[in-house]
Amino acid sequence: MQLQDFYHNSLVAPDLMEYTKAVVARLPKMPLATFGPFAPDAPSRVETFDLSKPLGSPFPATSPCLLVNFAVVAPGSMLPTLTEASSELFFVVEGQGTTETPFGTVAWEKGDAFVLPGGKRLEHRAEAGGVLYWVHDAPLLAWLGVRPGEGRFRPVFMSGRDMRQALERVLKEEGALKRNRNGVIPVHPEFRSTKSLSPILWSLINEVPPHHLQRPHRHTSVALDLAVEGAAVSTLVGDALEEDGAVQNAEAVRWEPGMAFTTPSWLWHAHKNDGDTPGLIFPVQDAGLVAWQRLYKIEFAP
Ligand SMILES: [Fe+2]
Repeated sequence: MQLQDFYHNSLVAPDLMEYTKAVVARLPKMPLATFGPFAPDAPSRVETFDLSKPLGSPFPATSPCLLVNFAVVAPGSMLPTLTEASSELFFVVEGQGTTETPFGTVAWEKGDAFVLPGGKRLEHRAEAGGVLYWVHDAPLLAWLGVRPGEGRFRPVFMSGRDMRQALERVLKEEGALKRNRNGVIPVHPEFRSTKSLSPILWSLINEVPPHHLQRPHRHTSVALDLAVEGAAVSTLVGDALEEDGAVQNAEAVRWEPGMAFTTPSWLWHAHKNDGDTPGLIFPVQDAGLVAWQRLYKIEFAP
C-alpha cells in the first residue's frame, strides 16, 4: 500500500466552517449543583460527583478539567484509589487515619489537606471511619488522551491547625471584615508564580464570620466548593448585579457541612452567614493551569 493510500483511508477531513459562525465555540453551560454530604459508614467506596451529562463530557467530570469525589473509608477498612490524574487533592472532611503513598505515609485528621502527583496507587485507612473530599484532574488528562508521568512536584501537606491559625491571623488584621473574602490561599513553594498547590490545583480556606455577608465576586475558573462548617450559610449565585452590588435574582445554595457544590465560571457569588457560628468553605479550582495561560480573571462587586 502506498503511503498516500494509507492517509486517504485513515485521515478525517475537517468541516470547513465560515469564520464568524465558528469562531465562538458554543459549549453546554456549567451547571450549579450540589453533592453529599456522606457519613463514614460501610462499605468503603468512592462517591463521584459526575456532571458529565450536562457538561457534554465523554468522561466523568464535575467541571471541564476536574472531578470531585468523596472517598468514604469505612471503620477499620482500607480503601485503595488509583486514577489517571496529574494532581490529586484530599481534604479531610471527617475522621482520622492514614494514606499510604509511594512517597510515604500521610497521617491525617479532620481539617487537614494534602496534594500529591496523580496516577499513584494510594491506600486510605481510618480506624473509626473517615471521609475525604478528593479532587483531581483526570478529566483533563482524558480529554488530552495522555497518561500521568512520574509527577513533577513534591507532595504538600497542610495541617488544619496551621490553616486555622493563619486564618485567625488575617482575620485580626485591620479592615479584615471589609475584604471581599476572609481567607488564606495555601501556595506550594514550587508554584509561587501561579499561587497554586500544583500545576493545576488551586485552593482557598475562607471563613464567613457570623451574621456577615461577603460581597460578590466572579472568576473564570469553576469553583468546586466544599462546605466545611456553618449552620446557616448560603452562597448566592447569579449572572448579574443590582445597582447596589447585590447579586440579582440570586439562586441560594444552602450549605450543609461536608457537602460539595459547584460555582459555575463567571457567575457572581456572595456568601451570607445568618448563623451565630462561623462558616468555613474550601473551594478548589483549576486556577493554577488557567493562571499559567494568563487567562485567570476575577472581578469584585463595587
Ligand atoms: Fe469565588
